[in-house]
Amino acid sequence: MLVRVGPLRGAAHLGGDATMAIVQGSGDAQGGASAAREQWQSRWGFLLAAVGSAVGLGNMWRFSYLAAEKGGAGFVALYLFFTVLIGLPVMLAELTIGRGARRGPISALAHYGGPAWRALGVVFVAAGFLILSYYGVIGGWTLRYSVEAALLGFPSPAGEHFGDVASGWDSLATQLVFMAITIAIVAGGIGGGIERVARVAMPGLFFVMVAIAVYAATLDGAGAGYAYYLNFDVARAMSLDVAVAAAGQAFFSLSLGMGAMLTFASYLPRECDLATETVVISFADFGVAFSAGLMVFPLIFALGMGDQLSEGTIGALFVVLPEAFAAMGAIGRVVGAAFFVALVIGALTSAVSLLEVVVSAAIDAIGWERRRAALVAGVAVALAGAWSAFDLDVLDLADSIATNLFLVGGGLAIAIFVGWVMPDPIGEAAVGATRGRVHTIWRALLRYVVPAALVVILWSSVQETWAKLWALLG
Ligand code: PHE
Repeated sequence: MLVRVGPLRGAAHLGGDATMAIVQGSGDAQGGASAAREQWQSRWGFLLAAVGSAVGLGNMWRFSYLAAEKGGAGFVALYLFFTVLIGLPVMLAELTIGRGARRGPISALAHYGGPAWRALGVVFVAAGFLILSYYGVIGGWTLRYSVEAALLGFPSPAGEHFGDVASGWDSLATQLVFMAITIAIVAGGIGGGIERVARVAMPGLFFVMVAIAVYAATLDGAGAGYAYYLNFDVARAMSLDVAVAAAGQAFFSLSLGMGAMLTFASYLPRECDLATETVVISFADFGVAFSAGLMVFPLIFALGMGDQLSEGTIGALFVVLPEAFAAMGAIGRVVGAAFFVALVIGALTSAVSLLEVVVSAAIDAIGWERRRAALVAGVAVALAGAWSAFDLDVLDLADSIATNLFLVGGGLAIAIFVGWVMPDPIGEAAVGATRGRVHTIWRALLRYVVPAALVVILWSSVQETWAKLWALLG
């Protein structure tokens, strides 16, 4: 068996500082950070796993239906704006807490902020639980579509087929399969499970995406798709509901606001440069989302199905695209199968990070063994997900609550925590960093700009989600 002695490696590089961390870590029984804590096998492994967490259904399913619903390029521009203004600082904040504390979210927050902050960690775990409960359902749809595409093609009418797949016992069954794979990967551990899968899966996903986007560009009529996607409607982009959706999407897509990045960073050695990793992960994520648009919209418009997009429902990707693939004949089947396989890969590597938040909390705070934690947490999530599997309105509502309240609220709390509560965040973030000045700007953003922006966003999210809840109940 391979036992990693992570902190010792750090100690060799960094001398006193890291040695302190070991002493502190092993002395704090409650924190559970031991010298044998698992660790990523390499920087690339961490980066691919973190990008794997970020890149997922959010970039393809969620991004493209929101871009369609919220008016195209204006939404995309706002989403990029929030990624840079809020996403980058909050990502660096999460990585800093995680790498510094070397613990799961609940123990990590308590480590820097005192026991009262455990509550925020509990909220993070709850958010991970909630998101994965419906994420697994959609993951199940992608699994079913990819297998069907390879074996049978795309049945028509696509809308009816989606209805059968998406809701009811079929949906529950595929969700269970998807969750079983997720549990197996997480049970395999950081290096042997999550990293190993990400190393193979992520390059494959990038390749497929670029290939399809290039192929889509060659289709007659693709131009109408680009025009739709990249058409900038300034008036529409100025409205608050577009801003709320764009901010929520930035959090969802970057896996921020619920401790996923924090947890992944807790398996990092101390000598890496967190600011660089932050930029790489965030722009890889934005790049994939943007390219997903370059692939989805031209395909749909080239086949004359653009008018079906305007309603922008959660099923858009699973109805309109298969119809387009079916209309393309044999090549459509190949492209379509590749597309859905890429989607499965993206969904799995994200689901894994959601489950890891719950699992690492159980390992560090309750002291469970990894395999047991993965199984118990995964099964509990899958059972809770049955609700979404049987009712798409519940799924939609869970997604609104999780993203616009939990993630945005969690991001606000992280900004306040690192900006105002954590002792010496700049010193911690700067370990292993090559540039110094960015950290001062970073903390100013976390202290003032990010909280101010997120309070406004959160306030209107609360109202919007409330209205949705009433609509569902009434
Ligand atoms: N970022 C993932 C996606 O885009 C979803 C996710 C959200 C993963 C939050 C982890 C934490 O699909």
